[in-house]
Amino acid sequence: MELNDENDPGRWAHSLGNALEIVTGCLDAAEAKSVVEVGAYAGDLTRLLLEWAERSGSTIMAIDPEPSPRLDRLEEERSELTVVREPSLEALSHVDLPDAVIIDGDHNYYTVSGELKAISDRTDSSELPLLLFHDVGWPHARRDSFYVPDRIPGEYKQDMVEGAHVFPGEPGLTAGGLPYKWASANEGGPRNGVLTAIEDFVEGREGLNLAVIPVFFGVGVVWHDDAPYAGALVEAIRFWDRNPVIERLEQNRILHLATSHQRAHQAWYLEKKLAWQERILRELLDSSAFAAADRFSHLKSGGKGITWRDQIEEALDDPPIIT
Ligand SMILES: C[S@@+](CC[C@H](N)C(=O)[O-])C[C@H]1O[C@@H](n2cnc3c(N)ncnc32)[C@H](O)[C@@H]1O
Repeated sequence: MELNDENDPGRWAHSLGNALEIVTGCLDAAEAKSVVEVGAYAGDLTRLLLEWAERSGSTIMAIDPEPSPRLDRLEEERSELTVVREPSLEALSHVDLPDAVIIDGDHNYYTVSGELKAISDRTDSSELPLLLFHDVGWPHARRDSFYVPDRIPGEYKQDMVEGAHVFPGEPGLTAGGLPYKWASANEGGPRNGVLTAIEDFVEGREGLNLAVIPVFFGVGVVWHDDAPYAGALVEAIRFWDRNPVIERLEQNRILHLATSHQRAHQAWYLEKKLAWQERILRELLDSSAFAAADRFSHLKSGGKGITWRDQIEEALDDPPIIT
């Protein structure tokens, strides 16, 4: 099964499809016959889940209020796929509860807590579907981001900022770094982030377990001790759960990813500044006052040396920094 990178021009590796073998390993262990993917975007993971479902004989439902046209097309092509075009908090209150739910929609405390409540209100804790999550690592583990702020009550978005940039190790916002349309100005603290929401859910309930797999922005797994597949699931994820070497790899990956964004931002800023400086210098060269002052200065030095005009023209044509 191959992930198509067409929807990822910046090579963020943002789709959970990048961790496919972990996801399908969990689904296989739980022998899931029905899977709901909350937040499906362009259907990158959905397409791969459909390939898996062909082998396992399962059905796939995608819940997304704003699916991309690619997901619409996928639904037309594949009868095993149903797309529910509603926000998760509405959809999860009425769709059939599946064997497994993959939560990868709006990455904030309010939404993830609400999704978990919507699911858990409909069944006993020991009968919960297998729960898989994306984005339990940086940057969303401890920092909310928002797709549509109007869907979030005021008290849950108090320090929300439009056009936020974040960088690993920096709890505030930065110039450059990974860009988000809407995100919390601060990382950490109560009721902030996807992992915080999951931990609060698990802590409040007996017998629930949480695995955190530190790959591609983090994959979370929640299951109950009494689930019939608990042993097989633990076996499938034992190697990955909080693996320190993989954790280091992911930290290194996000550092380079955020750094490349920060450098691109700096280059953009410097290009703008350079263009502005060039415009000022060209205006200066065209000015008669500058021409007179330059002639006067040159005469004063006995006609020796290079004129200001020559120096500026040289700098404009061939800056010495580019050798
Ligand atoms: C990160 S993308 C999903 C990527 C996809 N799961 C994959 O791995 O390829 C998040 C998606 O969540 C959707 N979304 C945002 N808010 C949502 C909500 N409240 N309920 C369901 N989906 C939501 C967005 O429209 C977007 O398409």
